[in-house]
Amino acid sequence: MASAPSNDLWIAALTLLVVFLTILWYKLNQEESRLPPGPRGLPIVGFLPFLRANLHHQLTELSQQYGPIYKFWIGGKLCVVLNSPSLAKEVVRDQDSVFANRDPPIAGLVATYGGLDIGFSPYGSYWREMRKLFVREMLSNRNLEACYSLRRHEVRKTIRNVHTKIGSLTDIGELAFVTEMNVIMSMIFGSNFVEEMEKHKKDGTEFRELVIKYLQIMGKPNISDFFPMLARFDLQGIQKDAEALLKSVESILDPAINKHLKMLSDRREGEIQGNEKKNFIQILLQLMEQKDIGISLDLVKIKAILVDIVIGGTDSTITTVEWEGIQKEMEALLKLFDSILDPAISECMKMLSDRREGEIQRNEKKHLIQILLELMEQKDIGISLDLVKIKAILVDIVIGGTDTTITMVEWVMSELLNNPEIMSKVQQELKHVVGMNNIVEESHLPNLHYLDAVLKETLRLHPALPLLLPKRPSQSAIVGGYTIPEGTKVFLNVYAIHRDPQVWKVH
Ligand code: HEM
Repeated sequence: MASAPSNDLWIAALTLLVVFLTILWYKLNQEESRLPPGPRGLPIVGFLPFLRANLHHQLTELSQQYGPIYKFWIGGKLCVVLNSPSLAKEVVRDQDSVFANRDPPIAGLVATYGGLDIGFSPYGSYWREMRKLFVREMLSNRNLEACYSLRRHEVRKTIRNVHTKIGSLTDIGELAFVTEMNVIMSMIFGSNFVEEMEKHKKDGTEFRELVIKYLQIMGKPNISDFFPMLARFDLQGIQKDAEALLKSVESILDPAINKHLKMLSDRREGEIQGNEKKNFIQILLQLMEQKDIGISLDLVKIKAILVDIVIGGTDSTITTVEWEGIQKEMEALLKLFDSILDPAISECMKMLSDRREGEIQRNEKKHLIQILLELMEQKDIGISLDLVKIKAILVDIVIGGTDTTITMVEWVMSELLNNPEIMSKVQQELKHVVGMNNIVEESHLPNLHYLDAVLKETLRLHPALPLLLPKRPSQSAIVGGYTIPEGTKVFLNVYAIHRDPQVWKVH
């Protein structure tokens, strides 16, 4: 009889537990029911075993079955795929700040020093400053114009090369890669870098292998990404491969960076010596041009100081002397001083302006690495740059700028070869705008309208990154009426969007 109350307690506790679990199950189920629909996978591994190469083709096929927004699980990671222009707008325009972050794989983080590059660093002041720097110093019209001769030189070299191979098989991809890599490397390190490489019989093919390997490693599904508990075992050795790859990339970048660091320190030493040799007039004239020194110097004041010094005046200058009687003599004396000082001042002013012009010319020819290394030494630019961050930007530019461009060139050439009538129209336009005996220049491009349309159509049909860089929402969000929880991997399927039959005619 004594055990009756404790039985009641047990029953009450059990009832509470059942009610609690029912509510939890209901809530979780409700949460799940607000997720988009999608294919079922296997227990634990989810959809992982069903993923195929050319993921964008498979994800486009799945959209025909599950609609413009669907989900699948890979291990513990929820993935959502968006396949329509209106859903893309919701993510990149209406909720841009929530979806601004990318979802880097472990291999991507390793190869960018923990995501210090532009592609993978999270949205915030660091990313903004790095991106601003990249756009200003690499992509601005001013920089592109300053680098025009580098591109022209490399393209002409390639054309000469193709000309020597008429009648034999040519690997367009390899040719485009070497050209693009040379252009990018000379924009970063100067044309000497490419000449040096060529002297050592290295023509960019070594780098091509690295880029191909890099993209293979980035694209390989990594168990560590989907089962974080297993990440430390690096079961497929992908993290180790990415580390080795970064070392290989560094073995090319480091010597070039070190050379520029040395040049910078030599130049600074030269400048210090140069400054020591500055005469007093030069210093005064330079001060006159600075607006933030507290006093406004002008030529009259400079001369007054000089007169003071020359005749040994102390705390008042001759120009302020107004004593009766001697004012006339003083004015005559001043004229005399002027006739001695003016030529010396003019000469110094000319030297200063020549030097400034020289500096402007030197600045225009600065390579990206020089600009970045100089910025690294400035403390007031908004971000603190260091060598690792500089290398992270360079990895982005070298990897992000080459394979994309080469993929485009290969697709354009393939489409033209498969569509002889379009090829013929492009040739007609080139004949008309450029002429048979001329070489295409960048200045011809605004008049090559048909070629421009061919490039844009190829970008539409064969986007170089068909799923972009997958995004990761920083908080739970509603897209297309469904919940996308924080941390989901969101694929924007531009391959499917670019071929949306509601917008584009299907051939
Ligand atoms: C035809 C040539 C190119 C194509 C098709 C292309 C395509 C792309 C795409 C699709 C993205 C990702 C956008 C996203 O997920 O939101 C991207 C990002 C990026 N690309 Fe390119 N790209 C090309 C050329 C270049 C070049 C020449 C450079 C360097 C000089 C470059 C540097 C970058 C960088 C740094 C990012 C990251 C930008 C960011 O996170 O804001 N790309 N590119």
